[in-house]
Amino acid sequence: MPGVLLVGNGAREHAIAEAIMRSSLNPKLFSCMKTNNPGIAALSSKSLVGPYEDLAAIMAFAKENGCEFAVIGPEDPLNLGIVDALAAAGIPAVGPKKKLARLETSKSFTRDLVRKYNIPGNPRYETFTSIDGIEAFLKELPGVVVKPDGLTGGKGVKVQGDHFQTRQEAFEYCREVLQEHSAVVIEEKLEGEEFSLQCISDGRTVVATPPVQDHKRRFVGDKGPNTGGMGSYSDRDHSLPFMRPEDVQAGLDITRKVAEAIYRETGDYYKGIMYGGFIITRDGVRLVEYNARFGDPEAMNILPLLKTDFIEICRAVVNGTLDRLPVEFEKKATVCKYIVPKAYGLPKDHPDAKSTSAKIDVGDVGSARLYYSSVDRKADGLYMTTSRAIGVVGIAASLDEAEKIAENAISAVKGPVDHRPDIGTKALIQRRIDHMQRLRRG
Ligand code: GLY
Repeated sequence: MPGVLLVGNGAREHAIAEAIMRSSLNPKLFSCMKTNNPGIAALSSKSLVGPYEDLAAIMAFAKENGCEFAVIGPEDPLNLGIVDALAAAGIPAVGPKKKLARLETSKSFTRDLVRKYNIPGNPRYETFTSIDGIEAFLKELPGVVVKPDGLTGGKGVKVQGDHFQTRQEAFEYCREVLQEHSAVVIEEKLEGEEFSLQCISDGRTVVATPPVQDHKRRFVGDKGPNTGGMGSYSDRDHSLPFMRPEDVQAGLDITRKVAEAIYRETGDYYKGIMYGGFIITRDGVRLVEYNARFGDPEAMNILPLLKTDFIEICRAVVNGTLDRLPVEFEKKATVCKYIVPKAYGLPKDHPDAKSTSAKIDVGDVGSARLYYSSVDRKADGLYMTTSRAIGVVGIAASLDEAEKIAENAISAVKGPVDHRPDIGTKALIQRRIDHMQRLRRG
């Protein structure tokens, strides 16, 4: 009966907790959460609620409960060195050590690694530690993306045309970034359709899970500010309607080369999730960024489809035996939509941006899966906070059916909530297909 430590308290971790508890090995779950997630707590034998910075408390909790290994959900504890601390206490983890988590926490580390080992996928880019040379480089690129070299909770990356328009504004933003971060990465802006490829790695073997497309914009039609992700979908054939079969393979090939490069560079095997954000351009697949963890919402698309026992996968990751384990997923389509408070993602000066803790009532959601994110369970029911509240996932033989299952479930949730009704619909997916066709025609 393995004891598993799960770190994290979002809907992603609720989906991980469910995958752990579906195991036929009868595991016991010990969860460590920054704030209590009632969905994870209900699946756990014991929970520790406290800051990720308190590594000593987390180590003591893991040891006193005899945890065999840990699964780390979010990037913050990875960046704090939780995996290094666990390793020192003799507890292996599904999650990279701090220096390997630089794959996510340092944009320049990843771009330089890809460049140094001649791995395809980088756009044109340069890293700057001062403003010297920035103006000249900005002039060389028709459009740019500016990335602070550090963790910014998804808020730091700014794209020309979306967040700013002119070179001068790009320059000003670079100056601002350099006041807070040691470096800024400037990249050529790419046009295409993005997909997330969450790969499982034991450092030597890298296995892809089905590709997913996320929707970052707050409002219908990909309008409004960027968010942590409003929803995502995956298709029955383990491709996406706008992709060619070779696109998934290209993302996996890049990730395999990066896993090998990171070992050659650091002498350590990357054990955990390598989530590649890729973009398909008219010239092929390019790397947008890596995350050192599952995606949120993307984890909710792929974990419910797992046919292989998740505990077996985790053991293969920590023991370096992934080459001997077939990892299989059901051939089904999934649509995930986040239920959010109406004020979620609005700029602070927006008249509707006032956010209060509001009660929601969850009725009959049919066959949909619900994964709790920022919700509190009080004596009289479930309350939202200010962030994404519940991930709702429809799973079916087709995208159309999966989307309907998710929508029906959302209509059973009453309260001052919002979501994106267009995610997973035929109309929006057709726009992606048309966009890709236009690009490929040139
Ligand atoms: N879905 C984007 C992320 O997890 O970072």
